[in-house]
Amino acid sequence: MSIAITGASGKLGKLILKYLRQQATNEPLIACVRKPEGTTDYEELGVEVRYCDYDVPGSLAPAFTGVDKLLLISGSDIDDTVRLRQHTQVVEASKRAGVKHLSYTGFAFPGTVQVPPVPLHLATEQAIITSGIPYTFFRNALYADLTSQFGLDSAIRTGELATFPGEWRFNTVTREDLAKAISSVLGSRPAPHHVNRIYELTAPRFWTFQNLAEALSEISGKNVVHREDPQIQSWIYGYLSKLNTTSTTEDLETLIGGPATSLKESILPLIEWKK
Ligand SMILES: NC(=O)c1ccc[n+]([C@@H]2O[C@H](COP(=O)([O-])OP(=O)(O)OC[C@H]3O[C@@H](n4cnc5c(N)ncnc54)[C@H](OP(=O)(O)O)[C@@H]3O)[C@@H](O)[C@H]2O)c1
Repeated sequence: MSIAITGASGKLGKLILKYLRQQATNEPLIACVRKPEGTTDYEELGVEVRYCDYDVPGSLAPAFTGVDKLLLISGSDIDDTVRLRQHTQVVEASKRAGVKHLSYTGFAFPGTVQVPPVPLHLATEQAIITSGIPYTFFRNALYADLTSQFGLDSAIRTGELATFPGEWRFNTVTREDLAKAISSVLGSRPAPHHVNRIYELTAPRFWTFQNLAEALSEISGKNVVHREDPQIQSWIYGYLSKLNTTSTTEDLETLIGGPATSLKESILPLIEWKK
């Protein structure tokens, strides 16, 4: 049962392959990358490396030949029109290559939101369903990196987390947790219960800016208070207000088989401030 992953040179892809290597020791693993040079670490792990560029349609079907399970990790182009074309080409090539199961990393609780990247992810899911290939969709919540937008180090330095007023609630996840969850599905065999399933990979509960200030206080040992400031101007608030950042499920913890990383733990790697 061979398992291939696109975007395998990226942060999420690397982690998924790491966890797959740990559990599916006998399954052939294939890293599909657009720059095969510089991937010696994969070869050392016994992971086959294949050339695959979403923008080079001719590279795709050969990369997927003989693959049983393919995970398409959404691309990173800033233009969603480009990304949709890339993803559609991957779906078409998967069909041509005879891929038996196609998984995709989308966005959690898309609803009917019309702001990028939600329409892209829904359109890609539709293309996969239309292809007739059995699928699993991993709809990932916002990465914990998002919290950097609110000035974590500055809040520790000043003792104040200043944010735009509002009933803000966020649900964020670490790539580590996502990788554990996704690899548990990809590596499981046989797995009929994962076929044509959608997992909303969110944290089990949302957090508020008050919670974020408390986490910063615990990390720094300093008192960090939360204050609302209507003078704050940042694109991030307008953007986030259009997304569903609060709905939660147990899917992530169920697939991991344990608790998701706490807010405090998930922001630790993002903080440069040292005690
Ligand atoms: N949930 C969220 O909050 C959130 C936030 C940001 C992004 N995302 C999505 O999640 C995905 C994975 O996250 P990540 O942190 O692993 O991102 P990342 O580190 O930027 O990795 C992106 C991967 O996509 C590959 N890629 C880009 N264009 C490609 C192309 N034309 N052909 C083949 N591969 C291509 C990159 O290859 P190279 O190494 O060759 O560039 C890289 O392996 C992102 O790509 C994005 O779609 C989600």
